[in-house]
Amino acid sequence: MDALKIIGGRSLKGQVRISGSKNASLPIMAAALLASGKSVLDNVPELADVYTLGKVLEHMGVKVERIGHCLHIDASYLNHLEAPYELVRTMRASILVLGPLLARFGEAKVSLPGGCAIGARPIEQHLQGLERLGATIKVEHGYVIASAKKLLGTELILDMPTVTGTENLMLAASLAQGVTTIRNAAREPEIVDLAKALSSMGVHIEGAGSECIIIHGNSDLQPYNHRVVADRIEFGTFLVAGALVGEDMAIVEGVPEHQAALIDKLRASGAQIQIKDHSIKISKSIGRPKPVEVQTAPYPGFPTDMQAQLMALLTVANGVSVVTENIFENRFMHVAELDRLGANIRVDGGKAIIEGVNNLSGSIVMATDLRASACLVLAGLIAEGETVVRRIYHIDRGYEHIEQRLCNLGADIVRFKE
Ligand code: EPZ
Repeated sequence: MDALKIIGGRSLKGQVRISGSKNASLPIMAAALLASGKSVLDNVPELADVYTLGKVLEHMGVKVERIGHCLHIDASYLNHLEAPYELVRTMRASILVLGPLLARFGEAKVSLPGGCAIGARPIEQHLQGLERLGATIKVEHGYVIASAKKLLGTELILDMPTVTGTENLMLAASLAQGVTTIRNAAREPEIVDLAKALSSMGVHIEGAGSECIIIHGNSDLQPYNHRVVADRIEFGTFLVAGALVGEDMAIVEGVPEHQAALIDKLRASGAQIQIKDHSIKISKSIGRPKPVEVQTAPYPGFPTDMQAQLMALLTVANGVSVVTENIFENRFMHVAELDRLGANIRVDGGKAIIEGVNNLSGSIVMATDLRASACLVLAGLIAEGETVVRRIYHIDRGYEHIEQRLCNLGADIVRFKE
């Protein structure tokens, strides 16, 4: 298994470019199932999750070809309406094929994703929404089996603004007859990007990015040609790296308004940030960072996907910070590992109370999920001496060549096999 060895204390300077968004690429790849013909998706990151969804599509008879950062997805010969457990269990977002398969072919069989390290992560909102559109859904032998003679647009009110739930229903509604209104919809930039791709296929969509999305279904969709938006979580992770050890570090092609809540917190902590169009310059605070209070919330609130990385910074703040996790029930697994690096963090239910320490000291730590691994790599950038982050296959799911890009900025990180 691969691990990363990090020597802490190096400053980061120079420029890094943000990749295309993983969490926008996945639903847009699923959107290619809605039309016969070849869709072209550009700026797709080279990541394990993208590869896994490609495998799910190929399993169905879809042709998927990668040329650099461009995916060509041809759903003309799709002949197998099933996403098997062996693939879905490695990536929950495979559930995104359910809506498009059902809408285009009237049936689908998709493995239930099951729980994951950060929480139970149920999908009843996806299933209830599809039922309201006219589908019959059974769960048998660990599979969701869905069928529908035809989907009919209607009003859907989500119990919570679920991201992939909103996306699955947007995908299904795109081929449904009539108008579908999704209320209490997720507002994340990935939703807006999916809406752009669907519009280019011939769907008329209003309100993406607000809590009410209106989708005018069209039974004759065309393949898309789309460029994926920048990855806001990768952007945020580099911003925290800059707040930790940056010296006039430049980040290009991230979208600052997609990380407004994080930028606010980083500024409050003392980081020096200058925004110019799609480029941002960041330097660490003068002296230790100041403590901050953070509550995770659906977009545009502070993202749960940035909570672990920000915590790496708060471990060395000059005072007590409180981080409240409101989205997932088990997203503090990095805490015990940060404590191994000398942090002083106590978890009390959904709150982590972080008593800032002067410095962290390098140690061996274990990655438990994608963003927790990013947090540990960031902590390694400031820890004295050598930090080894084990099981970093998690980080490869969401960050393209992370150690190379940090090294280009001046970090000292080596990947090795254990
Ligand atoms: C998406 O997951 C992201 N994944 C996650 O990214 C991200 O952490 C999450 O949104 C929250 O922002 C992708 O986009 C592929 P949700 P998703 O449905 O859609 C509850 C990363 O690190 N809920 O918005 O699965 C759920 O349990 C990851 O890249 C239900 O109760 O998350 C959670 O508490 C991990 N029933 C909340 O809603 C449902 O039917 C939000 O989950 C659906 C969700």
